[in-house]
Amino acid sequence: MTLVALLRAGLPRLLLLLFVAGHLLSAFAATDDAARVEQLRAEIRRHDELYYKKAAPEISDAAYDALKRELRELETAHPELATSDSPTRRVDDDARDAFFRHHAHRAPMLSLDNTYTEADIRAFDQRVRKRLAARATPAGLPALRYTVEPKIDGAGISLIYERGKLVRVLTRGDGAGGDDIIANTKSIAGLPRELRDDGGGLPEFIEIRGEIYMTFADFERINARRAAAGQPLFANPRNLAAGTMKLHDPAEVANRALHIFVYGAGACEPAATISTQSGLLERFRAWGLPVIEKYWLADTPDALVAAITELSALREKLPYPIDGAVVKIDDIASQQTLGSHSTAPRWAIAYKYTPKSVETRVRAITLQVGRTGALTPVAVLDPVVFGGSKIGRVTLHSTQELLRKDVRVGDIVVVEKAGDIIPEIARVKTGARGGGPAAPAPFALPKNCPVCATPLAAENESADNVLLRCPNRDCAAQVKARIAYFASKSCVNIAGLGDSTVEKLVSRGLVRNVADLYDLTPRQIATLDGLGEKSAARLHAAIAASRRAELWRVLVGLGMPDVATARAKTLAKKFNSLSGLVSADEATLARLPGVGKKAAASIAAWLGDPANRALIERLAKNGVGAGGK
Ligand code: IVH
Repeated sequence: MTLVALLRAGLPRLLLLLFVAGHLLSAFAATDDAARVEQLRAEIRRHDELYYKKAAPEISDAAYDALKRELRELETAHPELATSDSPTRRVDDDARDAFFRHHAHRAPMLSLDNTYTEADIRAFDQRVRKRLAARATPAGLPALRYTVEPKIDGAGISLIYERGKLVRVLTRGDGAGGDDIIANTKSIAGLPRELRDDGGGLPEFIEIRGEIYMTFADFERINARRAAAGQPLFANPRNLAAGTMKLHDPAEVANRALHIFVYGAGACEPAATISTQSGLLERFRAWGLPVIEKYWLADTPDALVAAITELSALREKLPYPIDGAVVKIDDIASQQTLGSHSTAPRWAIAYKYTPKSVETRVRAITLQVGRTGALTPVAVLDPVVFGGSKIGRVTLHSTQELLRKDVRVGDIVVVEKAGDIIPEIARVKTGARGGGPAAPAPFALPKNCPVCATPLAAENESADNVLLRCPNRDCAAQVKARIAYFASKSCVNIAGLGDSTVEKLVSRGLVRNVADLYDLTPRQIATLDGLGEKSAARLHAAIAASRRAELWRVLVGLGMPDVATARAKTLAKKFNSLSGLVSADEATLARLPGVGKKAAASIAAWLGDPANRALIERLAKNGVGAGGK
């Protein structure tokens, strides 16, 4: 065969092969991305749950933002993967209230992406320059200029003016539509019912975006009045502004004194001829609108950083709250070139100040029952945004700490971050308690388990050291917590068996202990609310796969007293299997390296309990812990 003939025969086949391989590769890349999207959503939901429901975040705000950013980028690259319930979709919304008329926004009300450091701001500038350069027309780019504006810490609203007349004032709502609160804005000083024509004519229709806010002075005045009347206090001026704008009583709104600043435009007809953000603000001013008092123009990244620094210095002197700076590209054509992603524009960014602490109100104190029965008090708070995320609950660690800090329902508390991640109550503002019968009362510790009503046992009881424990091992809370712990990443790692699924399995009576998991059929799992056949099959497979988890992980997962990773590894090495461990005697245990008398006694006591023995034997029969030491 000549070379030519060889090529003739081989080339088409080679091309076909390359073609198929190329397709396969991109198909693989696409399924990889789809899997990553799923993984990111699950991760983000898990962190949301840890943050909002358990008050026990595991990662920093910046790391959380990075997960969200990655997810958003993947969803933008693969619009077919975007779903309406994705965690990227939620904008900070106010609940719809049937008392008001609801209207759609013509242009959606977006939020802003957040940054926290100078490096983030410089990276934003780099990103913007790169994106604009890639889209530059032959005429080139206009010089890049930014506006830097205060980020007013209030509630976003949209003012609708038709032929210069104010016809609606919509709350942000879910970003797509909001409630018309115009009646509550009648008393806002300086909000024109009619725009002043500055000679340039007024649009037929325009959505003007702004922020309703409350001054510190009015916030203090209103809270003092409420404390005197024994009413619950507002946590901060933003909560007060957001709550006030949705009151059903315009006279009370007038008493409280709302204010407004405007800073942007949504839809406009006919299309606005203004070419810059700063030009827009000046036009608003000419129309008689209350425009943010001061803003900066910055032509270089250094000037941008300098403006933000100047604004943060000014912040202390302002009579109203700001929680950061908003950086926007001044040129509106460039804004349009960059566009938005699902929740925020790409041409603007918020630089958020990281406060050392925030103040908020304690709504309730709940007691969580853990896997060992120990009670952990959790303070439920009026949600506040702190360093980038919303805080709705903080743990008080122990009943002892609750009593020491004397946290009471209704108290205003100062929340700080411990080690930059976990928010904690640093102290109570006892001065804000007020007097009278409605003042917050000391928290009364319960006598019975809040879940199963069994009388609580107090351990290490002394004047300042109370450890409350529910002694009922069958208490539903303990059962659920034990199973969720066994299934967690640090133990046998059953993917898909999170708290909510455990909750369903236990409440339905399908599972009472960890051994029951291995008897579940896919059909039983599929009967759980919210679990389709596919995810049921996946969970069933994950449970089956956990049989091969290393023995020491199973031992950690069983939650024996005094057995954490190191001792679990020692035990696994010595006894090789679950059945080997059941017959271990105390003396042998005590001789093991790193175990000692005390731990040996508690392990032997745990193993001596018939219920525990039965559990281990069932697990062993099911082949659990056979995955090596
Ligand atoms: S621009 C599409 N400018 O902060 C651009 N927003 O966290 C969106 N806010 O939704 C808004 N001051 O409610 C802009 N000078 C300012 C602002 C500002 C306060 C609020 C606004 C926004 C939220 C994002």
